[in-house]
Amino acid sequence: MQINFSDTAPAKARLIAYLANKDDLPARLERPIVDGAAAARFKGNAGQFFESFVERDGQVVRVALAGMGDANATADKRAEGLEKAGAALAAKYLTSGETDLVLDFAGSGVDAADAAAVLLGLRLRGWRHDEYRTRMKDEQKRTLATVTVISAPDGAAQAWADAAAVAEGVEFTRELVAEPANKIYPLSFVERCEERFAGTGAELMVLDEAAMEKLGMGALLGVGQGSEQPSRLLAIKWLGGNAGDPPVAFVGKGVTFDTGGISLKPGAGMWDMKWDMGGAGAVAGAMLALAKRKARANIIGVVGLVENMPDGKAQRPGDIVTSMSGQTIEVLNTDAEGRLVLCDALTWTQREFSPSLIVDLATLTGAMIISLGHEHGGMFANDDDLADDLLEAGKGVGDKLWRMPLGAAYDKLIDSPISDMKNIGPREAGSITAAQFLKRFIENGTPWAHLDIAGMVWADKPGRTWDKGATGYGVRLLDRFVRNALKG
Ligand code: BES
Ligand code: MN
Ligand code: ZN
Repeated sequence: MQINFSDTAPAKARLIAYLANKDDLPARLERPIVDGAAAARFKGNAGQFFESFVERDGQVVRVALAGMGDANATADKRAEGLEKAGAALAAKYLTSGETDLVLDFAGSGVDAADAAAVLLGLRLRGWRHDEYRTRMKDEQKRTLATVTVISAPDGAAQAWADAAAVAEGVEFTRELVAEPANKIYPLSFVERCEERFAGTGAELMVLDEAAMEKLGMGALLGVGQGSEQPSRLLAIKWLGGNAGDPPVAFVGKGVTFDTGGISLKPGAGMWDMKWDMGGAGAVAGAMLALAKRKARANIIGVVGLVENMPDGKAQRPGDIVTSMSGQTIEVLNTDAEGRLVLCDALTWTQREFSPSLIVDLATLTGAMIISLGHEHGGMFANDDDLADDLLEAGKGVGDKLWRMPLGAAYDKLIDSPISDMKNIGPREAGSITAAQFLKRFIENGTPWAHLDIAGMVWADKPGRTWDKGATGYGVRLLDRFVRNALKG
């Protein structure tokens, strides 16, 4: 979707949208709109929508109102309202037959940042992945192509340029998540990153299986060993901060398909496991956003990319692997593979980059969805400040988190009688024992947070700024965290 700023409405504009705060209808508009909106009980609630046709200069014009909610709401709630107003317009007109929308900010009272939030909602809600739909009816096809913004507040174009970088990141993540596993596998994930990051100033570093073997990444390699697709470890470096400042590291689980391996998953619903690379997707998208907006911070994104398949070469339940850290792991369930991928990615990240803090993101456990549903990602952290920063960032952008506990009693549950640990605990507290497993790979008390986003990367119904499907969860969270906590 093309978003342009203009001083005047294009001649012959057929579709014009206005914004309204709660209980504050734009009285200067024509009576069919003002009275019609009142009759339709349009109150300007967040995401509320009204449209009417009026005659202007002998032409019939389609006029839309989108509600921004309470102008005096808290900053987080206000941002949500602004995004929902934009999203409502995208949802309504995306396939409406209309190709051009004029968005008139006159009389809306919003500032530049608010305007950018509206546009962000519009753009994100307008994203679709139609590539494989070759027989769509005309009514199903996207028509809306251009949004012309008029009477924008001062500085809105600049604020939008910044927000558009974030939108690009979210869209990249959604693309990676939505693509099926015959299109996105470790090598093609790397290739898409190479394409997207070309010219951004970010630097990519790729480890192949031989390199990982040499480093002793027996845990990660064990997961990939049943697949025809070779595994990869990808690092994306964005050094926009002071030279020599230790970087912050984001680490993602990139299981491009998770069959469960020899501990095979049931067939029903297994297709969902194409998005078991949602953590890696979020890291890649966040890095793209940060690079595109030239964040003033040093950030490293690391993703462990593997496909978990059953095969004659696949690892067996009971196998013992040695991780890069030297710790040995009894693989009692080959379906608890994410932690095996992450543990080596975490060790390598720490040895290679000495990060000041680490945030990992992973679709790690089904138990997380049982705990929190699709409303919050689960957060486990060894550092209260980091946890608070992430919670706050998540609230601000709508990528919500809920903190979960860690503790020695949980840790004990993954002790193994034959090796340093086993890769599963009992059925109870499955998300917590998974987090405890990862914690065993955090060195020197480095501040670390683990985000189990199993319930968040894919949606069965539309939300704040997404349709059903890939949400792009995590990108805006990490971007906001960098802005707030790192001033980057
Ligand atoms: N990728 C899955 C977790 C998952 C399940 C994410 C459903 C999203 C939706 C993970 O690799 C897995 O299989 N975890 C197991 C762990 C168990 C074997 C200890 C699980 O959650 O069942
Ligand atoms: Mn699994
Ligand atoms: Zn998995």
